[in-house]
Amino acid sequence: MQHAETPPPQCILLAGASGGLGQALLQTLHSQYPDAVLLTISRHDIDLLGDTHQHCTAELEDPGSVAVVNGWLAERPVPNWVVVCCGILHWDKHGPEKNLRQCNDDTLMRSVTVNVLTHLHLAQALDPYLKRRSPLTWASLSAKVGSIEDNHLGGWYSYRMSKAALNMLVRNLSIEWGRKVDACRVVAVHPGTTDTPLSEPFQENIPADKLYTPTQSAERIVTVLQQLQEEDHGKLLFWDGSPIPW
Ligand SMILES: NC(=O)c1ccc[n+]([C@@H]2O[C@H](COP(=O)([O-])OP(=O)(O)OC[C@H]3O[C@@H](n4cnc5c(N)ncnc54)[C@H](OP(=O)(O)O)[C@@H]3O)[C@@H](O)[C@H]2O)c1
Repeated sequence: MQHAETPPPQCILLAGASGGLGQALLQTLHSQYPDAVLLTISRHDIDLLGDTHQHCTAELEDPGSVAVVNGWLAERPVPNWVVVCCGILHWDKHGPEKNLRQCNDDTLMRSVTVNVLTHLHLAQALDPYLKRRSPLTWASLSAKVGSIEDNHLGGWYSYRMSKAALNMLVRNLSIEWGRKVDACRVVAVHPGTTDTPLSEPFQENIPADKLYTPTQSAERIVTVLQQLQEEDHGKLLFWDGSPIPW
């Protein structure tokens, strides 16, 4: 079936703009929508891509970022597209757990903080500005390994648990914002295994044709967003737009 594309966004908000996928999405969104206002958030300063681009440096894991980002958004147009890249899989000496013995509270808490609370805080900052007649597309970059039904391998406890929690946040947001905004599409997107610092230590066993460049994945994510339909609202989607069971 031929699907109609959603209208082009006039304002795009990209959070986590310094990461591997974040940087590629920034370039792709800027080149595909040169006239849209492009708002970025990152823990780092970034070079602006031109007059349409505005940046906010914020620590989205911090609850105080809700007020900071809310204040920053107050003087800007309401975004039609929001893409949230924030996520973590490994840091310092922590790698994904192979078994129960390797689990500890701190790593799970850190995973939830970065994989869930960053998305929650951004949603809280944006929520007061949503308008019934201003179309909204929200995409949280999640992961297929956060699907409970699709988990046949086990392991990666903290990442899987926190991405499953993110998926529930996305589902809840889709319900709450679906009641508030007429043209509302809230989804979680699995970008596919992409060559970024997050996947770097785990790329050895990935066939070359299954490891995608950040530009490839960014272009696919943008295509998914352009082609979102009403039935996609509240779902976890693969990088080709097909649904993944929760
Ligand atoms: N690469 C893959 O193969 C793959 C596969 C499945 C899912 N994903 C998901 O795709 C998303 C982007 O990952 P990536 O591959 O681009 O990884 P990356 O290069 O390691 O980037 C990490 C991302 O997370 C953000 N981040 C990290 N710590 C943060 C913190 N404490 N507070 C706020 N933001 C924080 C970074 O934002 P700033 O540095 O700009 O603040 C950046 O956007 C993640 O959610 C990841 O789980 C990736």
